[in-house]
Amino acid sequence: VAAKPVAILGVSGRMGQSLVRMLEGNQQLTLIGALASPQSSHLGHDAALEGTPTRVSIGADALQALQGAEVALDFSSAAAVASHAKICAELKIALLVGTTGLGPAAVDALKQASSAIPVLIAPNTSVGVSVLLELARLAAARLGGDFDIEIGEAHHKLKRDAPSGTALALGEAVAEARGSSLKEAAVYERGGAPRKEGSIGFSVTRAGDLVGEHTVLFAAAGERLEITHRATDRAIFARGALKAALWLLSQRPGVYRMQDVMSG
Ligand SMILES: NC(=O)c1ccc[n+]([C@@H]2O[C@H](COP(=O)([O-])OP(=O)(O)OC[C@H]3O[C@@H](n4cnc5c(N)ncnc54)[C@H](OP(=O)(O)O)[C@@H]3O)[C@@H](O)[C@H]2O)c1
Repeated sequence: VAAKPVAILGVSGRMGQSLVRMLEGNQQLTLIGALASPQSSHLGHDAALEGTPTRVSIGADALQALQGAEVALDFSSAAAVASHAKICAELKIALLVGTTGLGPAAVDALKQASSAIPVLIAPNTSVGVSVLLELARLAAARLGGDFDIEIGEAHHKLKRDAPSGTALALGEAVAEARGSSLKEAAVYERGGAPRKEGSIGFSVTRAGDLVGEHTVLFAAAGERLEITHRATDRAIFARGALKAALWLLSQRPGVYRMQDVMSG
């Protein structure tokens, strides 16, 4: 079976390069397009900034980078996601969105695109984090309202969005499991006020080169339960993204999550 053609959007970034390395020698997926920003200092360079060349060069024209691809892996910038979604829908290219910090315009564009193509919104493509989400949901449902929930996350100091997309996804999961919504429950800045009943507090650490850590804390009088995932190597996200990309290629148009990949 011929390898399926893939385009990487945000190829010159940390995740983009991790994906390029992971694709090397992959029998099922092959890189055919590579996109960076119009301001990128890497335009015209090989998509592999180090190591074995891919013979795919980095461009700033999304239409050109996506031409001929069957699946696109977007790990670029939240501001660029809506336009990538439109082009993928026009060209009928499955789209995995790993980019986080998506605003309402990006989410709307992804929903629209999903009538034409399968779209996977995956703020965290690690297999371990998908299980963390399930465990957090289960714990929230079983422990009920007597337990206070707090979510902590830590990432490298260059990360742009805070809290992380994964922390927000965890917040949504536990809020839903308690019959509430993150919008109602989230507290991002505590500012010295006492804890509001039923709220879900977030704390954020940005330091050094941390790849990504998430903890969901459930605390009641006399006991506490903490569920933690620690990523120590960015390769886990790339590995999970390629697994998800293969899965996405055989899905119908619609919006999917990592849990869908894990369960089927
Ligand atoms: N889903 C997951 O598991 C996961 C894991 C880690 C990170 N992420 C997310 O993935 C995204 C990228 O993370 P990163 O750490 O790789 O960031 P990064 O190192 O800053 O890389 C960003 C990449 O996007 C490119 N880019 C920026 N603006 C663009 C535009 N308008 N059009 C096309 N390309 C553009 C950059 O190109 P130039 O800099 O060369 O111009 C660069 O290649 C972030 O949203 C991050 O939160 C997701």
